[in-house]
Amino acid sequence: MRRGLALALSLGLSLGCSRRPPAAVERPVAPADRPFARREAVDAGVGVLTAREWARVRRMSPAPRPEPDPTNRVADDPEAARVGYALFHDAALSVDGTVACATCHRPERAFTDGRALAQVRGFTGTRNTPSLRYAALKRWQMWDGAADSLWAQPLNAWENPREHGLDRETLAARLGARHGEALARVMGRPPRDSLERIADAGKCLAAYVRSLVPTEPAPFDRWVAGDRTAMSDAAVRGLTLFFRVGCVRCHSGPAFSDGSFHAVRFPNAAASGADHGRLEGAERARRHPLSAQSVYSDDREAVFPPDPTSQEDDGRFLTPSLRGVALTAPYGHAGTVESLEQVVELYAAGGTPAADPGATGARDVFLEPFALNNADLASLVAFLRALTPSATPDRGR
Ligand code: HEC
Ligand code: HEC
Repeated sequence: MRRGLALALSLGLSLGCSRRPPAAVERPVAPADRPFARREAVDAGVGVLTAREWARVRRMSPAPRPEPDPTNRVADDPEAARVGYALFHDAALSVDGTVACATCHRPERAFTDGRALAQVRGFTGTRNTPSLRYAALKRWQMWDGAADSLWAQPLNAWENPREHGLDRETLAARLGARHGEALARVMGRPPRDSLERIADAGKCLAAYVRSLVPTEPAPFDRWVAGDRTAMSDAAVRGLTLFFRVGCVRCHSGPAFSDGSFHAVRFPNAAASGADHGRLEGAERARRHPLSAQSVYSDDREAVFPPDPTSQEDDGRFLTPSLRGVALTAPYGHAGTVESLEQVVELYAAGGTPAADPGATGARDVFLEPFALNNADLASLVAFLRALTPSATPDRGR
């Protein structure tokens, strides 16, 4: 199943990232099948979508559902998701009883903490807390892909001395004492060892996180489906710019991510120094005791291990989904970019300059600086905001 996904992603990547001739060379849509005749006047100067762009836009909607996960046999079991919910809110699963998953992934803030860097128990982390709303759409978890499944990821948080701060034996003992019965009921057997108990808990948490993917369409989806009032004129113009300035090379497909790693040179956190991203994340995923290739996986053949890394992976991060992005400021792996306006300005400049020690890695070949006036900036931001379902409470900013 995941092999199919991997293939689809790599196809998307080769389509999404192929160097296209400049837009002017593309054949415009013939007037008869032009879906946006009315828009054309509005968009004078930018032009309407070409036939090829429109075909790609249609493949970016509707909002996707999570792929089946054969490595977790309870991935879509509602009882597992209920146990996962209890685990998610259980602060006793931390060294001093103060930290639950929900302490950082706050449900009322689109499952982020609204800070640049995670902060608990007097520690400041080195990375920004991502929203969990669309995490189940991702092939890899964490900014650098340091976990190859949603159920492997929780151990990273539980063991991290700056997060829950528990050692494995204490964690397994507390899981057994507090959730042992529920876990054994969901899994249909007791665990054979401590790591399996942790894996079982991870699988229930994964089932919960999978249930968080919004089902409501974003304004963009309603617009693609034919409701031409769902997006403002500015947002429609922003969509054309999203293609013309190359955002879609990486933010492609219905999740607005190619599932791949790129160095776009968002600044690191000043205090934490260089962040090598994928260069180290792939190795961590490979060595993870609960990797999809481990004995705790329910299908060890289902997914590929990470590709071997090279120096080129330095400073590369996983392309995040842009769905829901209006609610998840600040942005980037270190939360150093405060607003969507600043994100767009950073891209127009081609990322942090190579001479600046605040960002790691060589700028991705798919990233080119571009000219940006105030109207373009407002349009691109309006489009990015149209990727967030309005039913999702807007409390993230
Ligand atoms: C101290 C704050 C904090 C706590 C507590 C915490 N997380 Fe996180 N979470 C983060 C940060 C920061 C990242 C990104 C880490 C990285 O990339 O290195 C993250 C990443 C994730 C991801 C990957 C999402 C993505 O888009 O890549 C998932 C899933 C996740 N956390 C779930 C959990 C679960 C489940 C728990 C509880 C067992 C938990 N987190 C506890 C801060 C926290
Ligand atoms: C070369 C691939 C690539 C291109 C092209 C690209 N992005 Fe990104 N985008 C990424 C990656 C990788 C990140 C994560 C960067 C980081 O955390 O350091 C990112 C992060 C973002 C974020 C922050 C998301 C979050 O949750 O923090 C936004 C918003 C965004 N991109 C929008 C855009 C827009 C708009 C464009 C076009 C102007 C664009 N991207 C072009 C790969 C790309």
